[in-house]
This record gives sequence, C-alpha cells and structure tokens, in this order.
Amino acid sequence: MTESGDRLKLCDRDDLAPGEARRIDVGGLRIALVRIGDEFHAIGDRCSHEDFSLADGEVLTAECEIECARHGSTFDLRSGAPCSFPATKPVPVYTLALEGNAVYVVVP
Ligand code: FES
Repeated sequence: MTESGDRLKLCDRDDLAPGEARRIDVGGLRIALVRIGDEFHAIGDRCSHEDFSLADGEVLTAECEIECARHGSTFDLRSGAPCSFPATKPVPVYTLALEGNAVYVVVP
C-alpha cells in the first residue's frame, strides 16, 4: 500500500541511455520515464488520445517532448501538455527524486 509522498524506485540512472524512454509500472502508476542528457522526466505512459504507450514513441530531445508512435501527437515532458493533434488533453506529470544512482518517483 503506497501513500501520497512515498517514494518508489523506478530504476538506476544508468539503466536508461540519454534519449531513451521506458515504460515502468509501479505502485499502480503507469509511467513513461524519459532521459534527456542527465535529466529525467516522468509522465503518464498512456497517451490521452487512445490507450497507447508513450514510451514506445520517439524522444524529441531538443524540444523536450515525446511523440506518440500511434498517431504522432507530441507531449511536453515538463508539463504533460499535448503539442500537436490529435491529442487535446494533457497527460499527468510525476515528480522525480534522484538520490545517488537511483531514480525515484514521488507518489502523487
Ligand atoms: S494514440 Fe497517441 S496520438 Fe493517437
């Protein structure tokens, strides 16, 4: 049982290469974890257009976005906002905590 504010480990920093995205299911959350350079971003993995894994899409490093592989909507990794159609609704953004080599998500 997890409570708001708990931290759950997602992976080690080295598990993801820069520019890589990975779906991680933890504590009832379905997260797309994305690494850009040495920064990590976590958004809801479920595309808001249809139920499709955003982690399967392409990471747009310069724009700090990820492109849904299904119909091509892009989402801002900082805000979760859709940047192009057909998606019109945002996806959740999760707070991360980095400690040593470990990457944690803070349970909302
Ligand atoms: S399912 Fe993601 S854009 Fe349609």
